[in-house]
Amino acid sequence: MSGLFITLEGPEGAGKSTNREYLAERLREQGLNVVLTREPGGTPLAERIRELLLAPSEENMASDTELLLVFAARAQHLAQVIRPALARGDVVLCDRFTDATYAYQGGGRGLDESRIALLESFVQGALRPSLTLVFDLPVEVGLARAAARGKLDRFEQEGRAFFEAVRATYLRHAAAEAERYRVLDAAQTLSDVQHAIDGLLPEILERIRG
Ligand SMILES: Nc1ncnc2c1ncn2[C@@H]1O[C@H](COP(=O)(O)OP(=O)(O)OP(=O)(O)O)[C@@H](O)[C@H]1O
Ligand SMILES: [Mg+2]
Repeated sequence: MSGLFITLEGPEGAGKSTNREYLAERLREQGLNVVLTREPGGTPLAERIRELLLAPSEENMASDTELLLVFAARAQHLAQVIRPALARGDVVLCDRFTDATYAYQGGGRGLDESRIALLESFVQGALRPSLTLVFDLPVEVGLARAAARGKLDRFEQEGRAFFEAVRATYLRHAAAEAERYRVLDAAQTLSDVQHAIDGLLPEILERIRG
């Protein structure tokens, strides 16, 4: 058995965290060691960078600053958590990863994908997720779920066009690399989404054990 790196992507309120717990339980039932983590963050230092990224602030954060902070946090997370877990043979379930950088800093902020790709190679080398679950849902549904939770962070305060670009970027990447991505309809009821995850379990177990 070797480790497997699975990421969960999608906008705010799509159900990434809820379904990460669900998938973790299903995998633990199979006797697997599962590491749950998230980005930006996943280590104490990276969580401090997360706070910088999410806190609304008087000073406008330049898009390049945002991009570099995201990858600085990612470098720390890879070194401290993700690479060691994969080396032990664990399954890593990570709530957001570099696909979110393409979606938010690329699609949302309009940064060139080639610059993101440069940093991706710099920080990750050849490491990419083996499987990426994209929780897709209409922008207004995600924003309503986020708003229902209360105070909006720096990203949640963005407008509709920003989130339409985020969604379109996720879907474009998923379509371009169908082997790695599975798109789930996150507008369904939670039990329907979890049923869809159950349907993916055999292939996930196959990838782990294969
Ligand atoms: N399919 C669903 N139908 C209805 N409500 C859902 C569904 N999935 C999740 N929710 C609810 O929506 C809210 C947001 O879910 P969750 O926190 O899992 O989303 P998230 O993708 O992790 O969001 P964020 O990116 O903001 O962390 C929660 O209250 C959750 O119970
Ligand atoms: Mg979450």
